[in-house]
Amino acid sequence: MTIRAKAKINFTLEVLGKRPDGYHALRSVVMPLDFGDDISVVEAESGVSLSVKSDSVTLTKLGPESNNLAVRAAKLIMSRFDISKGVALTITKRIPIGGGMGGGSADAAAVLRALNNLWNLSIPETELIELAAELGSDVPALVLGGAVLMEGRGERVCRLLPEGGGVAMPIVVANPGVHCSTPEIFKAWNAKQNLTSHGDIVHNTKTFVRAGDVGAMAKELRNDLQQPAFERYPEIARLAAEMRGLGCLGVLLSGSGASVFGLTDSSEKSVWISEKLKSSGVWSVATFTCPMV
Ligand code: C5P
Repeated sequence: MTIRAKAKINFTLEVLGKRPDGYHALRSVVMPLDFGDDISVVEAESGVSLSVKSDSVTLTKLGPESNNLAVRAAKLIMSRFDISKGVALTITKRIPIGGGMGGGSADAAAVLRALNNLWNLSIPETELIELAAELGSDVPALVLGGAVLMEGRGERVCRLLPEGGGVAMPIVVANPGVHCSTPEIFKAWNAKQNLTSHGDIVHNTKTFVRAGDVGAMAKELRNDLQQPAFERYPEIARLAAEMRGLGCLGVLLSGSGASVFGLTDSSEKSVWISEKLKSSGVWSVATFTCPMV
């Protein structure tokens, strides 16, 4: 079977403090995009094999296979459920590697779901989310799919709109080609930068996503990791300013970077901005948010 692993951005990412385990307490609205990797999952005699191909992403940035989150997801399921078979994974990579768009996490989430189906394991969603949390902080939200409110270090997740609904918004995403180290950006986060009152950012985000109110959502975007990322990597701040100049309504760093996204008032505008960015040598895609699974 071939499955889509959707990239994500964060409409909001509040860092609430440092935890005793070294991680940070977060509150974030994670939003998948109608853009992602494709993963083919085929049963094999034994073990886990991985092949990665791409027309658009530099694969030299991929780490060793044993660290690959899709491989680790398959191995986790196989050991936890005593599976005697193996699996061959082929990933068609489109999501920039290490770009704050959850590429590796989305691949892992897709593999967890695919193997649950392939081997008829009937793992309930709550258990799948616990397995996901063992792989990384972004994986539980992507296992759930759709717009998700993520809390704790990332392991507490619930659907932003449990009652359904939600309207896709046109968006353009770009990556300046610098590598942001997630631990470094979290370390540079300073609690003093966060003393301003947030208002009810989650409630507002929910309202705007439900109504598809791009203009209001653009004003509500917030990422507490943006300032440390901009300070360390001025090229990210420059790209964000360029996107604003080209007509994005609201521009924000995604996750710990280095990707930046901008909401727009039409898909034509997203395509136009994306083409402009590409012509100046920047990786970019025009797509839509996917608030529903
Ligand atoms: O969980 P994950 O492996 O994706 O996290 C990568 C790094 O990001 C952690 O080692 C930590 O430095 C940082 N992080 C954090 N707080 C979180 C999530 C990630 O400090 N809630």
